[in-house]
Amino acid sequence: MRRLGILGSGSGTNMQAILDAIGAGRLEAEIAIVLSDQPEARILERARQAGLPAAVIDCRGFSSRFPDEAQGETAAALEKAGVDLVCLAGFMRLLRKPLLEPFAGRIINIHPSLLPAFPGLEAWAQAVAAGATESGCSVHYVDAGMDTGPIISQARVPVRPDDTPASLHARIQEQEHRLYPKCIGEVLDSLPG
Ligand code: GAR
Repeated sequence: MRRLGILGSGSGTNMQAILDAIGAGRLEAEIAIVLSDQPEARILERARQAGLPAAVIDCRGFSSRFPDEAQGETAAALEKAGVDLVCLAGFMRLLRKPLLEPFAGRIINIHPSLLPAFPGLEAWAQAVAAGATESGCSVHYVDAGMDTGPIISQARVPVRPDDTPASLHARIQEQEHRLYPKCIGEVLDSLPG
């Protein structure tokens, strides 16, 4: 059985969707470990409730930087857990060599826009502010850039004239929860061994 490592900073609804897809037999995998840079994040609470190993990444007090030592520790924890594929699920720090190198080609992310449009924070609010008529979500391989890296798949979502950032994000998240488990299955199938 292929093993997933999940990294998240927030509420963990995408992790929940992955877990639900596994439970429903739509995704053949298991979640081996859940890691968060935010000790109070709901994703950790969800993981513990589901009986999954969960731990905090010690970012040495930095609020947005991800120090190399912490990246190395994260890679070591993922390796120790026997992770085949790393899935970023609302993880809000940039990855660098100490984490990217040991998992080359095996780290993916979900982002709430049709990349390359609206990279970075609160992409749904950026879409509303820009007057976009369409947005969506993208699953992509992770590199050292911010929401760059080759795109695996996207789902489109209309932006309605009366949308607020929150209403658009909710509609995008419905698509994220469908798209991410499906892409994870496809990427797992494409991995060697
Ligand atoms: C999701 O909308 C995800 O696409 C976004 O954070 C949210 C996390 O929600 N990620 C990014 O913006 C990454 N650049 P969740 O914690 O409920 O899964």
